[in-house]
Amino acid sequence: MYQTINTTIENNTLFIYINRPDKMNALNQQVMAELALAIDEVYKNQEIKSAVITGTGEKAFVAGADISEFLRLSPQQAVELANKGHMIFKRIEDSPKPIIAAVNGFALGGGCELAMACHFRIAATNAKFGQPEVNLGIIPGYGGTQRLTALIGKGKAMELMMTADMINAQDALQWGLVNHVVAPEELLTKAKEILAKIHAKAPLAIARVIKCTNGAIDKDIDGYELEINEFGACFSTKDMQEGAAAFIEKRPASFIGE
Ligand code: COA
Repeated sequence: MYQTINTTIENNTLFIYINRPDKMNALNQQVMAELALAIDEVYKNQEIKSAVITGTGEKAFVAGADISEFLRLSPQQAVELANKGHMIFKRIEDSPKPIIAAVNGFALGGGCELAMACHFRIAATNAKFGQPEVNLGIIPGYGGTQRLTALIGKGKAMELMMTADMINAQDALQWGLVNHVVAPEELLTKAKEILAKIHAKAPLAIARVIKCTNGAIDKDIDGYELEINEFGACFSTKDMQEGAAAFIEKRPASFIGE
């Protein structure tokens, strides 16, 4: 069905592989369109409880937007391209089901932005991160200036974007860009381990954690107010009754997502 990505479902997780290894998995417009469809599937398919985005091959997660598509763009077309990218990445960020980036190599430009749109990131030891857009006379256009600042702070974000330097996985860990660094062959295992824990929790509570945490960086939202309301809404769920009852009865909870 897809030509530039591959998807497979395993243990209720949709694995999305960006699949242009000969072009370092660069995001051309077809990849973006197919990625949008895969994310729709995450929202709509009941069998899917989470997703992992990674890259095909050993070298790259995603080495950025496809530079070969840039030369013919007018400013207006560039705005349209950025708008489309923002919409897709926001849909990843707002997904009620967890979406993790498993960064298996270069995550540059749009690749770093894609990883940052995910709920959190794990990296292989060979991962490299950067926003090298200024090398090309442009700036990040898929949310990088905003999400990088939120994740690693203004000073480090400014330096990374102005120097176009790449940082390795250990530095990314230290800077708070990724949560874990593991050997390349353990990358997906680590993602599966974390997701197995999350799958055992109440899905509606997980969705509310995502919504409220995103609310902390959305300037149009009072995150505290949102948290109060979402906390209240938890108390209308069957899973809240089950979770509290299971604790009192000293047994594991069995959640149904209602
Ligand atoms: N867009 C389009 N094509 C890209 C690309 C991108 N962002 N990144 C890599 N490619 C292509 C290369 O043009 C090359 O294609 P070719 O074999 O047809 O010539 C192929 O992928 C392999 O890349 P190459 O540069 O030969 O590999 P490398 O191991 O020497 O270097 C990188 C890897 C990632 C450091 C280097 O490709 C790079 O700097 N890419 C661009 C990163 C970037 O600026 N991203 C931000 C874009 S806004």
